[in-house]
Amino acid sequence: MSPAETGAAVPAMSVYDAIRMRRDVRAEFTGERIGEEQLTRILQAGHNAPSVGNTQPWDFVVVQDPGTLDTFADHVAGCRRRFADSLPPERRATFDPIKIEGVRESGTGIVVTYDASRGGTHILGRHTVEDTGVFSAVLAIQNIWLAAVAEGVGVGWVSFYDEAFLTELVGVPAPIRPIAWLCVGPVSQFQQTPDLVRFGWREGRPLSEAVHRETF
Ligand SMILES: Cc1cc2nc3c(=O)[nH]c(=O)nc-3n(C[C@H](O)[C@H](O)[C@H](O)COP(=O)(O)O)c2cc1C
Repeated sequence: MSPAETGAAVPAMSVYDAIRMRRDVRAEFTGERIGEEQLTRILQAGHNAPSVGNTQPWDFVVVQDPGTLDTFADHVAGCRRRFADSLPPERRATFDPIKIEGVRESGTGIVVTYDASRGGTHILGRHTVEDTGVFSAVLAIQNIWLAAVAEGVGVGWVSFYDEAFLTELVGVPAPIRPIAWLCVGPVSQFQQTPDLVRFGWREGRPLSEAVHRETF
């Protein structure tokens, strides 16, 4: 097994600290590119995620070609403009200063894909809840996100894109779908407060509002 697989040389941080420090990063990428060993450890963490029927329905497309990053960033900018144009004036004024991606500055994109066909037709546990396949791929993303924090590396999830565009851009074959573009790179700092809160877009809510007992 490789060091990434065994966990040797992996930085130690309490899982609670990683969860507390994790941020969606847009503006704090330093512009340096993540090293290969770090990248492999982070991808290995993603690959260690639980998955329905042990299907491991994810793949990871690592994108570092500056031309591809530029093309995707331009596409995302168009999607951002369309969203901004759809907003009423007051919300638009709040949204305008919010950065929603660091595609170029991060230096690395990880496109996470979902393959519903992996594992054949009898997926243990997905026969009742189809979404468990996508849930599994999203768990890989969360592992990547938290492992990156332990490495001092930032992750920003970008969903301002047309799926068909991204499918074509990174050559994802049907029936596999891209489900996320993750901007991944070294950061100067992790903000303590989420950007959407700092910029007044939307507050979080306390745990007490999310917890229900016995019935919803
Ligand atoms: C499925 C998903 C899609 C997201 N898409 C975007 C996005 O396109 N652009 C962006 O700036 N943040 C995106 N985010 C990040 C959220 O805005 C962020 O997680 C939330 O505001 C809470 O902030 P925090 O992650 O720093 O705690 C996305 C997050 C998730 C889970």
